[in-house]
Amino acid sequence: MKRLVVGISGASCANLAILLLKILRELPGWETHLVMSDGARRTIEYETPYGVEEVAALAHVTHPAEDVGASIASGTFKTEGMVVIPCSMKTLAGIAHGYSDNLLLRAADVTLKERRKLVLVVRETPLNLIHLQNMVGLAAMGVIVMPPVLTFYNHPKTLDDVQLHIVGKVLSEFGVEAPGFTRWTGK
Ligand SMILES: Cc1cc2nc3c(=O)[nH]c(=O)nc-3n(C[C@H](O)[C@H](O)[C@H](O)COP(=O)(O)O)c2cc1C
Repeated sequence: MKRLVVGISGASCANLAILLLKILRELPGWETHLVMSDGARRTIEYETPYGVEEVAALAHVTHPAEDVGASIASGTFKTEGMVVIPCSMKTLAGIAHGYSDNLLLRAADVTLKERRKLVLVVRETPLNLIHLQNMVGLAAMGVIVMPPVLTFYNHPKTLDDVQLHIVGKVLSEFGVEAPGFTRWTGK
C-alpha cells in the first residue's frame, strides 16, 4: 500500500483537494492521510458544497491538525511524499522556515527531512517578494511548486475539466494516472 499525505490549507481552491481525494479513493493500492488546517476548515465551508466532516471521510485516514503526535509527524512512518493542495502563503512560509506549529506543517517538515517528494499547490495572486522568496528557497531543496494554473491545450469545456487537468498533473508527480486526464502528445 502506497501512502500519500494530503494537506489542505486555507487558500482558495479547496475543491481541488476534494477531487484529488476522490480520485485516490477509487484507486487500489493508495492510502491517503489527510490533515486540514484551521484555515482549510473555513474555506471548505465557504467555497465548496462539502462539510469538513464529509471531506475528512474522503480520506482513508484523517488526522486532527493539532495532533503533532500522529503517525505522519514521524519520518519512521513510510510515505511516498506529501501534497499541500491548496497551499496558502502562510503555510508556505511555515514550511519554508521550518515553523511546524501544526500537524500539516510538521508533516511537510518530515517530508523534507526524509528527502521525500513534496508538492505545493501554492495559491495566491498577485505574489509579493516574501511569497516568491519562500518558493525559491523550497524549490532549491527540490520541492515541486505547482500553482493551479489554467491550461487550454486540453480544450476544457467545463470547470470540472479544468480542475481535473490541474489535479491530474499533481497526481502525475506521484506516478498516478488520473482517469480522464489528457496528456499533450504533440500537434
Ligand atoms: C475564502 C478565503 C479564501 C482565501 N484564499 C487565500 C488564498 O488563495 N491564498 C492565501 O494565501 N490565503 C488565502 N486566505 C487566507 C488564509 O486562509 C489565512 O491566511 C489563513 O491564516 C491561512 O492559514 P493556514 O495556512 O494555516 O490554513 C483565504 C481566506 C479565506 C477566508
